[in-house]
Amino acid sequence: MTTQKVKDWGKMPEVSIITLPPARWRAAQRLRLQALLAEPSAFASSYEDELAFPDDVWIARLTSAQERDGNMTYFAEVDGELVGMAGAHWSNRSEMRHVAEVYGVYVSSEMRGRGIASRLMRRLLEELRSLDQFEKVSLTLNTEAGAALGLYQGLGFKIIGTSRRELKVAGQYHDLHIMALQLLQRQNSPS
Ligand SMILES: CC(C)(COP(=O)(O)OP(=O)(O)OC[C@H]1O[C@@H](n2cnc3c(N)ncnc32)[C@H](O)[C@@H]1OP(=O)(O)O)[C@@H](O)C(=O)NCCC(=O)NCCS
Repeated sequence: MTTQKVKDWGKMPEVSIITLPPARWRAAQRLRLQALLAEPSAFASSYEDELAFPDDVWIARLTSAQERDGNMTYFAEVDGELVGMAGAHWSNRSEMRHVAEVYGVYVSSEMRGRGIASRLMRRLLEELRSLDQFEKVSLTLNTEAGAALGLYQGLGFKIIGTSRRELKVAGQYHDLHIMALQLLQRQNSPS
Protein backbone atom coordinates (compact mmCIF):
# COMPACT_ATOMS: atom_id res chain seq x y z
CA MET A 1 0.00 0.00 0.00
CA THR A 2 1.36 3.44 -0.88
CA THR A 3 0.77 6.40 1.34
CA GLN A 4 0.25 9.68 -0.44
CA LYS A 5 0.93 13.03 1.15
CA VAL A 6 -2.24 15.02 0.68
CA LYS A 7 -2.20 18.76 1.20
CA ASP A 8 -4.86 19.79 3.72
CA TRP A 9 -6.64 22.44 1.66
CA GLY A 10 -9.38 22.48 4.28
CA LYS A 11 -7.06 24.46 6.55
CA MET A 12 -6.19 27.05 3.90
CA PRO A 13 -8.50 29.99 4.62
CA GLU A 14 -10.20 31.63 1.69
CA VAL A 15 -9.04 35.18 1.25
CA SER A 16 -11.22 37.77 -0.51
CA ILE A 17 -9.91 41.09 -1.78
CA ILE A 18 -12.68 43.63 -1.27
CA THR A 19 -13.60 47.28 -0.94
CA LEU A 20 -15.49 48.30 2.18
CA PRO A 21 -18.72 50.30 2.38
CA PRO A 22 -18.53 53.25 4.81
CA ALA A 23 -20.92 51.35 7.13
CA ARG A 24 -18.03 48.97 7.94
CA TRP A 25 -15.75 51.76 9.13
CA ARG A 26 -15.25 50.18 12.57
CA ALA A 27 -13.66 47.09 11.01
CA ALA A 28 -11.32 49.30 8.95
CA GLN A 29 -10.50 51.33 12.06
CA ARG A 30 -9.70 48.17 14.03
CA LEU A 31 -7.31 46.87 11.36
CA ARG A 32 -5.57 50.21 10.87
CA LEU A 33 -5.08 50.74 14.63
CA GLN A 34 -3.78 47.16 14.93
CA ALA A 35 -1.26 47.94 12.15
CA LEU A 36 -0.08 51.18 13.79
CA LEU A 37 0.26 49.50 17.19
CA ALA A 38 2.07 46.40 15.89
CA GLU A 39 4.37 48.10 13.36
CA PRO A 40 4.98 51.68 14.53
CA SER A 41 8.09 52.20 12.39
CA ALA A 42 6.38 51.01 9.19
CA PHE A 43 4.02 53.99 8.99
CA ALA A 44 4.31 57.78 9.12
CA SER A 45 1.26 58.03 11.37
CA SER A 46 1.21 56.84 14.98
CA TYR A 47 -1.35 54.74 16.88
CA GLU A 48 -1.97 57.68 19.24
CA ASP A 49 -2.49 60.10 16.29
CA GLU A 50 -5.21 57.96 14.76
CA LEU A 51 -6.78 56.73 17.98
CA ALA A 52 -7.75 60.37 18.51
CA PHE A 53 -9.53 60.63 15.14
CA PRO A 54 -13.26 61.27 15.45
CA ASP A 55 -15.60 58.71 13.84
CA ASP A 56 -16.21 61.10 10.92
CA VAL A 57 -12.62 60.77 9.75
CA TRP A 58 -12.87 56.97 9.47
CA ILE A 59 -16.19 57.20 7.67
CA ALA A 60 -14.87 59.88 5.31
CA ARG A 61 -11.86 57.69 4.42
CA LEU A 62 -14.11 54.85 3.26
CA THR A 63 -16.52 57.20 1.54
CA SER A 64 -13.76 58.83 -0.51
CA ALA A 65 -12.32 55.37 -1.31
CA GLN A 66 -15.73 54.18 -2.47
CA GLU A 67 -16.07 57.24 -4.70
CA ARG A 68 -12.42 57.01 -5.77
CA ASP A 69 -12.13 60.64 -4.80
CA GLY A 70 -8.42 61.02 -4.16
CA ASN A 71 -8.23 57.64 -2.47
CA MET A 72 -8.63 53.92 -3.19
CA THR A 73 -8.34 51.16 -0.60
CA TYR A 74 -8.54 47.38 -0.82
CA PHE A 75 -8.92 45.01 2.11
CA ALA A 76 -8.24 41.30 2.53
CA GLU A 77 -10.97 39.44 4.37
CA VAL A 78 -10.98 35.93 5.87
CA ASP A 79 -14.16 34.55 7.47
CA GLY A 80 -15.62 38.05 7.81
CA GLU A 81 -12.47 39.42 9.51
CA LEU A 82 -10.19 41.98 7.89
CA VAL A 83 -6.59 40.73 7.82
CA GLY A 84 -4.89 43.14 5.44
CA MET A 85 -5.13 46.35 3.47
CA ALA A 86 -3.41 48.43 0.81
CA GLY A 87 -4.34 51.95 -0.18
CA ALA A 88 -3.37 54.69 -2.60
CA HIS A 89 -4.13 58.36 -2.49
CA TRP A 90 -3.52 61.24 -4.83
CA SER A 91 -3.93 64.95 -5.15
CA ASN A 92 -6.60 66.27 -7.50
CA ARG A 93 -4.48 69.37 -8.16
CA SER A 94 -3.97 69.54 -11.92
CA GLU A 95 -0.18 69.41 -11.75
CA MET A 96 -0.02 66.37 -9.47
CA ARG A 97 -2.95 64.20 -10.41
CA HIS A 98 -0.80 61.90 -12.58
CA VAL A 99 0.94 60.46 -9.48
CA ALA A 100 -0.63 58.10 -6.92
CA GLU A 101 1.04 57.29 -3.60
CA VAL A 102 0.67 53.87 -1.97
CA TYR A 103 0.04 53.92 1.77
CA GLY A 104 -1.05 51.72 4.66
CA VAL A 105 0.10 48.35 3.30
CA TYR A 106 -0.32 45.81 6.09
CA VAL A 107 -1.12 42.13 6.67
CA SER A 108 -1.74 40.85 10.19
CA SER A 109 1.20 38.78 11.44
CA GLU A 110 -0.58 35.39 11.53
CA MET A 111 -1.63 35.71 7.86
CA ARG A 112 1.74 36.70 6.40
CA GLY A 113 3.68 34.72 3.83
CA ARG A 114 0.56 33.53 1.95
CA GLY A 115 0.64 36.05 -0.90
CA ILE A 116 -2.03 38.33 0.60
CA ALA A 117 -0.06 41.59 0.29
CA SER A 118 0.91 40.63 -3.20
CA ARG A 119 -2.77 40.11 -4.16
CA LEU A 120 -3.79 43.38 -2.50
CA MET A 121 -1.08 45.34 -4.32
CA ARG A 122 -1.77 43.72 -7.69
CA ARG A 123 -5.46 44.59 -7.40
CA LEU A 124 -4.65 48.15 -6.33
CA LEU A 125 -2.25 48.66 -9.25
CA GLU A 126 -4.71 47.12 -11.70
CA GLU A 127 -7.43 49.53 -10.56
CA LEU A 128 -5.08 52.53 -10.62
CA ARG A 129 -4.13 51.61 -14.20
CA SER A 130 -7.80 51.30 -15.16
CA LEU A 131 -8.46 54.93 -14.20
CA ASP A 132 -6.17 56.05 -17.04
CA GLN A 133 -5.05 59.00 -14.95
CA PHE A 134 -1.81 57.84 -13.40
CA GLU A 135 1.63 57.77 -14.97
CA LYS A 136 3.56 56.96 -11.81
CA VAL A 137 2.97 55.26 -8.46
CA SER A 138 5.28 56.19 -5.59
CA LEU A 139 5.72 55.11 -1.99
CA THR A 140 8.11 55.39 0.92
CA LEU A 141 9.25 52.57 3.16
CA ASN A 142 11.50 52.14 6.15
CA THR A 143 14.94 51.02 4.90
CA GLU A 144 14.79 48.19 7.50
CA ALA A 145 11.48 46.78 6.15
CA GLY A 146 12.92 43.78 4.29
CA ALA A 147 9.63 42.00 3.57
CA ALA A 148 8.01 45.16 2.19
CA LEU A 149 11.06 45.86 0.02
CA GLY A 150 10.79 42.38 -1.53
CA LEU A 151 7.06 42.88 -2.07
CA TYR A 152 7.47 46.17 -3.93
CA GLN A 153 10.52 45.10 -5.94
CA GLY A 154 8.59 42.02 -7.04
CA LEU A 155 5.92 44.35 -8.43
CA GLY A 156 8.45 46.39 -10.38
CA PHE A 157 9.00 49.33 -8.01
CA LYS A 158 12.55 50.76 -8.01
CA ILE A 159 14.34 52.64 -5.24
CA ILE A 160 14.84 56.19 -6.53
CA GLY A 161 16.25 57.76 -3.38
CA THR A 162 16.77 57.45 0.33
CA SER A 163 15.87 60.09 2.86
CA ARG A 164 17.83 60.00 6.11
CA ARG A 165 16.21 60.40 9.52
CA GLU A 166 12.80 60.92 7.97
CA LEU A 167 10.87 59.13 10.73
CA LYS A 168 11.33 59.48 14.48
CA VAL A 169 9.58 56.72 16.44
CA ALA A 170 9.93 56.67 20.23
CA GLY A 171 13.09 58.78 19.93
CA GLN A 172 14.68 56.49 17.28
CA TYR A 173 15.40 57.82 13.81
CA HIS A 174 14.61 55.76 10.70
CA ASP A 175 15.64 56.25 7.08
CA LEU A 176 13.10 55.91 4.30
CA HIS A 177 13.51 54.61 0.76
CA ILE A 178 11.49 56.39 -1.87
CA MET A 179 10.27 53.92 -4.50
CA ALA A 180 8.49 54.47 -7.79
CA LEU A 181 6.76 52.42 -10.44
CA GLN A 182 6.41 54.03 -13.86
CA LEU A 183 3.00 53.05 -15.25
CA LEU A 184 3.45 54.82 -18.55
CA GLN A 185 5.70 57.40 -20.13
CA ARG A 186 3.89 60.30 -21.77
CA GLN A 187 5.79 62.83 -23.88
CA ASN A 188 5.77 66.44 -22.72
CA SER A 189 2.77 68.04 -24.37
CA PRO A 190 2.97 71.67 -25.55
CA SER A 191 1.11 73.93 -23.11
C1 LIG B 1 5.14 43.64 4.07
C2 LIG B 1 3.90 42.81 4.32
C3 LIG B 1 2.68 43.67 3.97
C4 LIG B 1 3.95 41.56 3.42
O1 LIG B 1 2.72 40.84 3.57
P1 LIG B 1 2.57 39.31 3.13
O2 LIG B 1 1.13 39.04 2.89
O3 LIG B 1 3.26 38.44 4.11
O4 LIG B 1 3.39 39.29 1.75
P2 LIG B 1 3.25 38.19 0.61
O5 LIG B 1 3.08 36.84 1.20
O6 LIG B 1 2.24 38.65 -0.39
O7 LIG B 1 4.69 38.24 -0.06
C5 LIG B 1 4.96 39.10 -1.18
C6 LIG B 1 6.45 39.30 -1.31
O8 LIG B 1 6.95 40.03 -0.19
C7 LIG B 1 8.26 39.55 0.15
N1 LIG B 1 8.22 38.99 1.50
C8 LIG B 1 7.14 38.67 2.22
N2 LIG B 1 7.51 38.22 3.44
C9 LIG B 1 8.85 38.25 3.47
C10 LIG B 1 9.82 37.96 4.46
N3 LIG B 1 9.46 37.51 5.66
N4 LIG B 1 11.13 38.15 4.16
C11 LIG B 1 11.49 38.62 2.95
N5 LIG B 1 10.61 38.94 1.97
C12 LIG B 1 9.32 38.76 2.23
C13 LIG B 1 8.62 38.51 -0.88
O9 LIG B 1 9.29 39.17 -1.95
C14 LIG B 1 7.25 38.01 -1.32
O10 LIG B 1 7.26 37.50 -2.62
P3 LIG B 1 7.54 35.90 -2.83
O11 LIG B 1 6.50 35.20 -2.02
O12 LIG B 1 7.35 35.76 -4.30
O13 LIG B 1 8.92 35.67 -2.35
C15 LIG B 1 3.80 42.32 5.80
O14 LIG B 1 5.00 41.68 6.15
C16 LIG B 1 3.55 43.45 6.78
O15 LIG B 1 2.39 43.82 7.03
N6 LIG B 1 4.62 44.02 7.36
C17 LIG B 1 4.50 45.08 8.36
C18 LIG B 1 3.98 46.37 7.77
C19 LIG B 1 4.84 46.90 6.65
O16 LIG B 1 6.06 46.84 6.67
N7 LIG B 1 4.15 47.49 5.66
C20 LIG B 1 4.79 48.14 4.54
C21 LIG B 1 4.73 49.61 4.76
S1 LIG B 1 5.62 50.47 3.45
